[in-house]
Amino acid sequence: MSPLPWLLVILAACCVESYKVLVVFPFPGKSHAILGDGVVRLLLKAGHEVTYITPILNKKPPPNLHQIDVTDNYQMFVNNKDMINIAQFFKVKQQMTIKSLFDFMFQMHKMTFNNPNVQRLCKDPKQHFDVIIGEWMFNDLYSLFSTIFQAPFIWVSTVDPHWMALQLIDQSTNPAYTADIQSNSIPPFTFYERVQQLVYQIVGYGLKKFYAAKYEQEIIELVKPLIQYRGHEVPDFEELRYNSSLMLGNSHVSMGSAMALPQNYKPIAGYHIETDIKPLPEDLQKLMDNAKHGVIYFSMGSNLKSRDFPDEVKMGLVRLFGELKQTVLWKFEEVLPGAPSNLKFLQWAPQASILAHPNCILFITHGGLLSTTETVHFGKPIIGIPVFADQFINVERAVKNGFATKVDLDFNMVEDLRVAITEMINNPSFTKRVKELSFIYHHRPVSPGAELVHWVEHVVKTQGAPHLRSPALDVPFYQKTYLDLAAVLLATIYVVFATLKFICKRFLCSRGKISSKNKKNN
Ligand SMILES: *[C@@H]1O[C@H](CO)[C@@H](O)[C@H](O)[C@H]1NC(C)=O
Repeated sequence: MSPLPWLLVILAACCVESYKVLVVFPFPGKSHAILGDGVVRLLLKAGHEVTYITPILNKKPPPNLHQIDVTDNYQMFVNNKDMINIAQFFKVKQQMTIKSLFDFMFQMHKMTFNNPNVQRLCKDPKQHFDVIIGEWMFNDLYSLFSTIFQAPFIWVSTVDPHWMALQLIDQSTNPAYTADIQSNSIPPFTFYERVQQLVYQIVGYGLKKFYAAKYEQEIIELVKPLIQYRGHEVPDFEELRYNSSLMLGNSHVSMGSAMALPQNYKPIAGYHIETDIKPLPEDLQKLMDNAKHGVIYFSMGSNLKSRDFPDEVKMGLVRLFGELKQTVLWKFEEVLPGAPSNLKFLQWAPQASILAHPNCILFITHGGLLSTTETVHFGKPIIGIPVFADQFINVERAVKNGFATKVDLDFNMVEDLRVAITEMINNPSFTKRVKELSFIYHHRPVSPGAELVHWVEHVVKTQGAPHLRSPALDVPFYQKTYLDLAAVLLATIYVVFATLKFICKRFLCSRGKISSKNKKNN
């Protein structure tokens, strides 16, 4: 056997520096796990060793992956069952408030830090990491891992750049032209919307400062023994919070707006999509190949269940799809009786492979960020039926970008969907537009996956990349907004007026008084 392959292996092992990375993605939800898995997959492929705090375990982990099991975090949904039940959203149209979002996230963070597996990891003196990557979920507490393991910290922001996340590495965005995730408005804003955006920020900021502080303290107290156990000092959390090295953002200008971003924010949306598309199962491949009029793919994502649609809506949808010439693939947990021949239910749907198929002409989606990213990646127009969280703004943005139609989730949705499907199929402008955006999305100097690996390595090689740190973090609010200058100007104006008034009283006006007195006497 020739020694060349061995030589290459040894050479590769010498040249690739392998780092130990801790990846913290404990949120119990499929879409979050997909983003976490993406980070892990890319780092492993680059030759690094990954320890992964995850609620969804890989049954056959590769040798360089160590999983820390937090499946217990699924308990979160036991108390909040209705949170992701479609039927519930037919009854109440209510967005989660930022306060309940905070509550939910704190509960999850607490469970994670309390988890015996996580505690064991933190107490193990043999564990050392070169860098830690954590998912930002409206809560900054995972940065505590960077104190526990004395390693630089990188956030992954899984939503479009949110002001609350950006202020951790730079400053809040300007509410006059950037939309909060809770709102459904897209800039340019009307006067009312602009005020509303400002209110979102003030309320959010106030809640974080005053309401969240109590919870934060509770978790810091919980983590303190772990920090001390490893012989480190407990940091000032206000300092630690603003001390992360980098933020990797699941966003890209092709899907959002061209907002100003700090040097240490890297928009790498699409990194979770594997570059080699897996082949479709044979029967599905045949079905899609033979669909003369194209395929419509319908999925409400991985959390929402189509079976929770009210019966009359379910039946209405089956009837509607039966009227179409197109083949319809519906990701559905069960098989409904009486389905027409052009409708196929899929218990499990290889979404990327379906969207990649040239015959797929339309995607009906709940508008989750991963699904909207995939539509741009594969250049397919969508009909969005948003249900909760950021789905509304994702769909609004897609509509504004010209490649989507929005349908409201209510008892009229079958009729609305009929109109929308007809419009989308007969008007080529939607497909044309999404192809343009897809070009912008793909036309980057390097792939998002390569960029992710590059910046993680950059942080390690430069000991936390302090050169990328925004100077805005060291300037207090009153200085940024020149409130001190305003105070000086106001004081000056006051002094000038007071002086003038004094002079006037003393020298000029008093004479006037005398003369008026004289006049009276006359
Ligand atoms: C901030 O990060 C740097 C670089 O990772 C680290 O050296 C420093 O100790 C950190 N400070 C705090 C308060 O955690």
